[in-house]
Amino acid sequence: MPAAHCCCLTAIVPRQAVRVKRMGQTVPYFDIGGRPAIPMYGTLYPPPLRPQVPVSVIAVTGFSIYLRLTAQNTMTTAEIARTSKYDPFSIAVMRDPLPYYKELRDHFPVHHMPQYNAWAFSRFEDVLSIFENDAHFHSAEGTLSNKEGLSKFEKGAGPKWQKDPTPLLGFNETETYGKLRQAMMAELKPKSVTALADDIRKRTNALLDKLIPQKRFNVTLDFAGIVAAGSVCGMAGVPVEDAAEVLAAANLATKQDPVTGGFPPDWIKNRDTLLEICRKAVRRQIAGQSDRPLPVIEKLRELEVEGRKLTVNDIAILISSILLGGSETLPKVFAHGLLELNRNPSQKAEVMSDLENNARPAFEEMLRYCGPAQWFMRTVLTPVTIAGHKLEVGERVVALIQSGNRDEREYPNPDQFQWNRPNTRHLGFGNGLHFCIGSHLARLEGKILLQEFLRRVPEYTIEEAVRTPSSFQWGYSSMALSIA
Ligand code: HEM
Repeated sequence: MPAAHCCCLTAIVPRQAVRVKRMGQTVPYFDIGGRPAIPMYGTLYPPPLRPQVPVSVIAVTGFSIYLRLTAQNTMTTAEIARTSKYDPFSIAVMRDPLPYYKELRDHFPVHHMPQYNAWAFSRFEDVLSIFENDAHFHSAEGTLSNKEGLSKFEKGAGPKWQKDPTPLLGFNETETYGKLRQAMMAELKPKSVTALADDIRKRTNALLDKLIPQKRFNVTLDFAGIVAAGSVCGMAGVPVEDAAEVLAAANLATKQDPVTGGFPPDWIKNRDTLLEICRKAVRRQIAGQSDRPLPVIEKLRELEVEGRKLTVNDIAILISSILLGGSETLPKVFAHGLLELNRNPSQKAEVMSDLENNARPAFEEMLRYCGPAQWFMRTVLTPVTIAGHKLEVGERVVALIQSGNRDEREYPNPDQFQWNRPNTRHLGFGNGLHFCIGSHLARLEGKILLQEFLRRVPEYTIEEAVRTPSSFQWGYSSMALSIA
């Protein structure tokens, strides 16, 4: 019996508990081992079955029984959300967190996850309040974590800052962090970013010149991702020709094992590849071999942090934050945005009627509606009350930004994409201390990509859109489209 048969899933149930006499019979669910399908990695997989709804047994082999799963006997994700506790690393949540967010906002706005010493906040105002109360939180444990990292904690413990080598930007102690952030923003402030517009447009059109004649291409990996990675390569002193390699490394760096929520195989090797690309760029700049002086690297070299100058490796780690943040998020937002425009032809026509003025607000709605990054974490530094709940030192908060962006308390019809929504505010770039340093660049790139793509490709068909399960970056990592 092939385990991967399309409509069969393996349920691992102790053999002796299976009261199945003949293959092919239909039995009430509770006859099969008397319990829901397997808790695996702390979650339910395959999807739990509806109690008492009969299921067809296809075969029994060893410790596995094969069931024919249909819409009638499997729960929907909304039903699962009502019956199970939210866990960002459960397989069902990593597949589609949106029904869970609704459930959390409506019924559990302050949701305890004792297994991680953490509280999840899902309403817009509460997520904003976490970001705005940043003096009460620290990021020594990072602003992101996987299941393994979040499962380790010491109750009541204060921050343990890593200092050597200097970690990724967000993990640094506040004073050091402020200095590093300033240096890293050397070419990310509005004036410097505006000066990049012509170059971004040129690279965008050069790629379209190559892709349009192919009639079918991957909008995330071959188009928007290359434009985005190219911009940050230019800042970090990495040859623009290496944009595809940087993009692949950035995508792998934020990828999670879709079953465990942990690091995928090759994660460490990939991180080292990315760091080596960055170390080479720093060495080239120090040796005066870069195409132009690179303000980000120069400013980081000038700094004295913790009584010492930054090493080549320190600087490489820091600029890798720019390569990561700058390469992998924007293409997913853009690809999802194109999908929404195609689903809503009247909205697409409205945006296209005046691309010069409409691309900007349309991209802003994409930032609200299509953001792949689901949450960021903080650790409590001093007791603070959020949503009426007092948080203690050492507890973690999980700020669910995409839930906040869909909060019906903040937006009318939040689950509807609306290109000209009056978005007075959203959480797409976070807020407060760690507000995205690349927001100006991302907005400029998003606007130009939309303008040039829709101007030259007014009609397209989405052939394949892949959104790999992930607790963190749940976005279209690959989207193929075709043009007539
Ligand atoms: C559409 C594109 C983008 C989105 C949706 C996005 C989103 C975000 C969000 C939500 C945060 C806040 C993290 C937190 O609160 O812990 C963040 C931080 C960050 N972003 Fe972006 N980002 C985008 C583009 C970029 C670009 C283009 C760059 C680099 C040029 C970048 C670099 C960073 C860095 C380095 C941080 C960490 C900042 C810190 O911890 O202080 N991002 N981003």
